[in-house]
Amino acid sequence: MVYLTRQEHFNAAHKLFNPKWSKERNEEVFGLCANENWHGHNYDLYVTVKGEPDADTGFLYDVKKLSQLVKQHVIDKLDHKNLNMDVDFMKDKMCSTENLAIAIWQQLAPHLPVEVQLHSIKLYETPRIYVEYFG
Ligand code: NI
Repeated sequence: MVYLTRQEHFNAAHKLFNPKWSKERNEEVFGLCANENWHGHNYDLYVTVKGEPDADTGFLYDVKKLSQLVKQHVIDKLDHKNLNMDVDFMKDKMCSTENLAIAIWQQLAPHLPVEVQLHSIKLYETPRIYVEYFG
């Protein structure tokens, strides 16, 4: 089994705000991310797939195709968007990095060919904070 990772990048706005709570409670729990008028992050996304290299090419999967799939199903839907308002697959969810990583997995997994398995989604919200999801 070999693992192959493609890195992508997107910028997006969000806020973390639970409408069931008071403004004070939201600020206490979510800090700066509760800012009412939104804020942005520069997200770095690492998509890792796994499988066996093809006998003819030596490749696990064509990285250009992987990049195209990630762009089409994930990046194009998130880049320069407001995650709370513009993204159909984040509707009615808390726009945390955790939930975003899970949603990215769900967007991508059905589009990979059968011989390639999704292994992980690693999503950096800042250079020092990231989430990993293994399905
Ligand atoms: Ni934030």
